[in-house]
Amino acid sequence: MVALIRSVAFTALSLSPIPSICALNFGFPYGSENVRGVNLGGWLVLEPWITPSLFDNTGDSRIIDEWTFGQYQDPTKALNTLRNHWDTWITEADFAAISAAGLNHVRLPIGYWAFEVAPGEPYIQGQLQYLYKAINWAQSHRLKVIVDLHGVPGSQNGFDNSGQKMNYPLWHTSQSNINRSNKIIQTIASMFKDTTDVVPIIAPLNEPAGFFGNDVLTATKQYWYDSYANIRQPYGNATQSNTVVMIHDAFQSQDYWKGFMNPPNWQGVILDTHIYQVFSTPENQRTNSQHIQVACSTQSTLSTSPAGLWVVVGEWTPAATDCAKYLNGRGVGARYDGTFPGSTAVGTCAGMTGKAWTFSQSFKMFLRQFWEAQVQSYEKAQGWIQWTWKTEIADEWSYQAGLANGWIPQDPTNFIYPKICN
Ligand SMILES: *[C@@H]1O[C@H](CO)[C@@H](O)[C@H](O)[C@H]1NC(C)=O
Ligand SMILES: *[C@@H]1O[C@H](CO)[C@@H](O)[C@H](O)[C@H]1NC(C)=O
Repeated sequence: MVALIRSVAFTALSLSPIPSICALNFGFPYGSENVRGVNLGGWLVLEPWITPSLFDNTGDSRIIDEWTFGQYQDPTKALNTLRNHWDTWITEADFAAISAAGLNHVRLPIGYWAFEVAPGEPYIQGQLQYLYKAINWAQSHRLKVIVDLHGVPGSQNGFDNSGQKMNYPLWHTSQSNINRSNKIIQTIASMFKDTTDVVPIIAPLNEPAGFFGNDVLTATKQYWYDSYANIRQPYGNATQSNTVVMIHDAFQSQDYWKGFMNPPNWQGVILDTHIYQVFSTPENQRTNSQHIQVACSTQSTLSTSPAGLWVVVGEWTPAATDCAKYLNGRGVGARYDGTFPGSTAVGTCAGMTGKAWTFSQSFKMFLRQFWEAQVQSYEKAQGWIQWTWKTEIADEWSYQAGLANGWIPQDPTNFIYPKICN
């Protein structure tokens, strides 16, 4: 099903930040209660490393992301595979289990292609009804949903999880890409503006690649301003919604964002930062105790944000290597064992990734310690959302597997190592 993009230009709401005079009534007491949550990764946006079987089963090595998943297969076959995946990967039982594990938020990645697909774009649609299901399930199980736009036209970062893997992303290079994104944020904001008790936050864009430089950063900052207007003023007049805007730091330091969209002129903005220790060789070389120490060292910045905003660590993991199959892309190896192009082995990946029954007691103990060090540290900010709830064969990343195998407590405030950072 291909929806034509309407050629009429839409008018972005003009930005008029208003100092807060009325009491704000967000769907969750941000700033006084910790966000504790999980991402529902690999569901409405495919990621090869979360569900490698979906990619391996195609028998086509050119299929490396959701774009090529639609491009190189019979569309009916692709749609049937996706439908089955959407129906089974996350169900109401997962929402029940997440709630029972003492968590209060889920962050739900969704791609722009769930909303509209332009001619020539091979994406398969059908995700939207699952977004609605998710929100109903969240409501039944008293969970808050962060609707997270995880991929935009042209790709904002070139990661496979933006829908399209590419060396240099193109979203920021075209106003038409940006306009399409703004329009989708208006749609999402309008869908949920009156149900902020279940959808208290909209995250207008995951991980724009600020590391490519000022072109990306300039486009991103303007997009945050436009998104603020679209999300906080969705009625077409000055009346503000209760929806919180979660902006990503674009891989810049919190100092970079100092004063950006700060109160009192701006209300209801959360800065999202993602903390991983697996995507470079020096990080893979760290010892277990260095990983823990680095996690603990984030506390000083997180406890009083130089940005002047609420901060939530919206992605992080107890995994300490890049060993998970396809983590760096389908068919790409790992830095840890030297199979990633240009890398030198730190060690073997055997026992460092896979199903939990293959993990040693000492590895599971490390996962518990690293998990606790991160939770205790990220609660110095306004909370955390682990990446991710479940995986096919990379249990070290899976919250569900952590609960089942004891390295994540059933009550996230129940620490075995309460002084691990002291
Ligand atoms: C993008 O939107 C703006 C504001 O509505 C409009 O002026 C501009 O022509 C649009 N540009 C493109 C390339 O669609
Ligand atoms: C803005 O529009 C909404 C929805 O139509 C309405 O309820 C509200 O009163 C309006 N606010 C102002 C300031 O006109």
